Amino acid sequence: MELTEVIRRRHSPRSFSDRPVSDEQLRLLFEAARWAPSANNEQEWSYYYATSAHPDTHRLLCGCLFESNRIWAEKAPVILVSCGRKVFSYNGKPNRHWMHDVGAANVSMALQAADLGLVLHQMAGFSVDRCAEMLRLDMEVTEPVTMMAVGYPGNPDDLPETLRERELQPRTRKGVEEFVYELK
Ligand SMILES: Cc1cc2nc3c(=O)[nH]c(=O)nc-3n(C[C@H](O)[C@H](O)[C@H](O)COP(=O)(O)O)c2cc1C
Repeated sequence: MELTEVIRRRHSPRSFSDRPVSDEQLRLLFEAARWAPSANNEQEWSYYYATSAHPDTHRLLCGCLFESNRIWAEKAPVILVSCGRKVFSYNGKPNRHWMHDVGAANVSMALQAADLGLVLHQMAGFSVDRCAEMLRLDMEVTEPVTMMAVGYPGNPDDLPETLRERELQPRTRKGVEEFVYELK
């Protein structure tokens, strides 16, 4: 038995080609998020994005990224912010799983991206406050979770040296036995 192809293929590189992502591809990524599971089917995720077709807005979003991410992510033709509503829409009470559900939707998007031959790289390294202010979010209710760079894979040789080395290193993971416990 083998792992599903898109799970094997999904990864988070830092080199991006400037080839644009089509509206149809973007629509499919959002469709993938749409079908993610969520507690009480709350679907508490929301996405804001800018493409390189609108350079001023693209630059504004990239301005929320920490420098260590901005240097490579600004080359990606699509920059997104994933957000989550922290309270249930039906009663306004805290939803303990809001960030979990946004993560699930994000992974759905990442797998759909891999299936389309695209790459999606999530980032926690950004100013949440600056981003929330720019998007005029009421942080009591809705918070940015991750920013994402989406596009076609680029050439690692175009990255600064330290990033190029990281890009070419083999990906590592814990062994399954390190995080799975059968209860008998
Ligand atoms: C919530 C989250 C935050 C992350 N933040 C960053 C980040 O700020 N900068 C970065 O370069 N990568 C970031 N990553 C990417 C991880 O470093 C990457 O997923 C991990 O090293 C595993 O590599 P892979 O995605 O290629 O399997 C983030 C990933 C996740 C899920």
